Amino acid sequence: MRKIFKIYLLMSFFAGLFAACSFAAEGSDNQKKFFKDEDLLLTGVYYYPEHWDESQWDRDFANIKKLGFEFVHMAEFAWCFLEPEEGKYEFGWLDKAVDLAKKHDLKIVLCTSTATPPIWLVRKYPEVLRKEFAVQYDHGARQHCSHSSEKYMELSLKMVNALAERYGNDPHVIGWQIDNEPQAHPNEISEEAKKHFQDYLRKKYGDIDSLNEAWGARFWGQMYGDFSQIGFSQRNPHQYLDIMRFSGDETAKFLDTQAEAIKSKSKNQWVTTNYIPHLPAPAIGRCRSLDFVSYTRYMIPVYDGLGKEGFRVGSSFAISYANDFFRPLSDGIYGVMELQPGQVNWGKINPIPKPGAVRLWLWSVWAGGSKFICTYRYREPLYGSELYHYGVVGPDGVTPTRGGTEFAKFISENAELRKHYDKNFSAKNKSYMDRRAALLYSAQNDWELSKNKQTYRWNTERHWRGYYEILKSFGAPIDMISESADFSKYPFLIVPAYIMMDEKLVDKLRSYAENGGHIIFSVRSGYMDKSGKLYEKPFGGLLYGLTGAKRMEEFDMLPDQKFSKIKAFGKDFEWGVWAEIFTPSEEVEVWGQYADEFYSGKAAVLHKKIGKGSTTYIGVQSKDFALEREILKKIYSDAGIKTLDLPEGVLLEYRDGFGIILNYSDKPFDAASIIGARKILVGSKNPDTAEVVVWLDR
Ligand code: GAL
Repeated sequence: MRKIFKIYLLMSFFAGLFAACSFAAEGSDNQKKFFKDEDLLLTGVYYYPEHWDESQWDRDFANIKKLGFEFVHMAEFAWCFLEPEEGKYEFGWLDKAVDLAKKHDLKIVLCTSTATPPIWLVRKYPEVLRKEFAVQYDHGARQHCSHSSEKYMELSLKMVNALAERYGNDPHVIGWQIDNEPQAHPNEISEEAKKHFQDYLRKKYGDIDSLNEAWGARFWGQMYGDFSQIGFSQRNPHQYLDIMRFSGDETAKFLDTQAEAIKSKSKNQWVTTNYIPHLPAPAIGRCRSLDFVSYTRYMIPVYDGLGKEGFRVGSSFAISYANDFFRPLSDGIYGVMELQPGQVNWGKINPIPKPGAVRLWLWSVWAGGSKFICTYRYREPLYGSELYHYGVVGPDGVTPTRGGTEFAKFISENAELRKHYDKNFSAKNKSYMDRRAALLYSAQNDWELSKNKQTYRWNTERHWRGYYEILKSFGAPIDMISESADFSKYPFLIVPAYIMMDEKLVDKLRSYAENGGHIIFSVRSGYMDKSGKLYEKPFGGLLYGLTGAKRMEEFDMLPDQKFSKIKAFGKDFEWGVWAEIFTPSEEVEVWGQYADEFYSGKAAVLHKKIGKGSTTYIGVQSKDFALEREILKKIYSDAGIKTLDLPEGVLLEYRDGFGIILNYSDKPFDAASIIGARKILVGSKNPDTAEVVVWLDR
């Protein structure tokens, strides 16, 4: 069930709230100390000793080592084995597994098993269980405890402290994962959660009048007299935004508290968690005590790719955007905690990945600059909720699966590349860096847009992804950044459907453009303040000064599959999802006009020079993003920056002095003109579907 929900979430819009952090490309010194640049990327695998006969552990660790893995990930769902009775800890079995891992020269990543509490805990303290609208969770699942439960936090902390005391100083334990795929619980309605929500609002608004004002509580006579009267109704869109923010903070607190406990007892061990990069992801980016973030990724059957075998390869977008989203969140340092080694068991249909696809995904993670990659899981399970799920080895416990073999191949190739690493030549390719762009992103905009879509044809993920894919086809590196980031590092800044803005952001954007930056706004930007209320101005009026609009006269959307025309650059384009109709001021160039409907001839795209830079407001979503592509091409070319024209599904990235092309398309790609005479280290100049080529970029 959770999986189905997850697929739904993955297919709808991913989101995340960005941490207030800086975006140095290389990571802070503190984070850097955990990884050596020359290692490029470390590889690991999940192992559950508690699932297997102890007599097999030694053999399994030996085989894991033989395949080339460098660390094992353990103790993820093992709370009932670690603390079989309240306060009675049993570490003997884990000690044995840790010792065997050491014997085989494997490093260890440990996990706090708070996703699966033991039965004694849940029966003795039933108040820890999650309660959502019409759903009471119970033992037997995962994530069934409330992040607002103080009792659960207290019991979790006791166990985590005991674990950290035991292993926090073990030099073979390199890091920790808190919980598993933690997600916020915006539908939680327990009394404890309600009390925390009221406290959160008290702190945020100070007095009830300010809350009534921010929530527009006059509407439908919702006025509150006191914070203690507030509940979790999600009908009010402004209240909904606060529920989402609050739920993100509750989960972040749950994770941070554990992270702090581990850090207070450990030495030189990193602490992270493994997020799913998806909507609504209110918790992502709200933690303050993790060293960096990591993510999990399942490609098949979630992300369909191109052509006949696309369902076996997956989409080029899925790992790439997760890299570009997670990397900036923690100063350039991130990891991938789970990547499937083969078929999963939870899709509607679970086909075999195309031979080579697992390796392609591994290289895709590598291409983003990830510091490690771990796979779920080593042995295929023989019982439990994940029957049929592939592992690195099959059900006999020893024979590598195709995916397992591809992992081993990737591991040996990565080891080969390490020999060529040279810190004097580790800078990223210059033309690539000249093209770098940032995408301004906040989950809060997604929440608002999803709540008030206005047309079923609106899909925020599709909208945002349209821009992302154009830039990727230009061969541009992309960082997804938050409002607190330093914009000046990026010559181009896309601000797509950024509906909630304030003056502070507008000022920051203005000075970015004045200093030479090029901003590309898209539809539905700047309509609302941060509580989701429309400004008392003409529609979108907050941005007029910056974009040169005199007035947005109206906005439009078309029924069903209908498309209408726009003209730009002497060509015809079509639109159907969203259109804004502008009267421009004298200072702008009109780059696109509507060519039918009763407002034919009116402006759709406004371009304005500002200081040393420019703003372009693209007030329409065109069919297949064809118009947006032309506009971005022109902005790059006017700025004197050359772009590539990579076919759909082909990605180009650089890291640590290497170049890489990943082919998710359904045809071979001729990379000769990009690679030139440089030395190819992996693959060939013509990578076919699901193949890669890596070269030394010097
Ligand atoms: C992940 C989860 C793992 C495992 C896997 C199966 O989402 O974190 O624990 O259940 O799915 O594909």
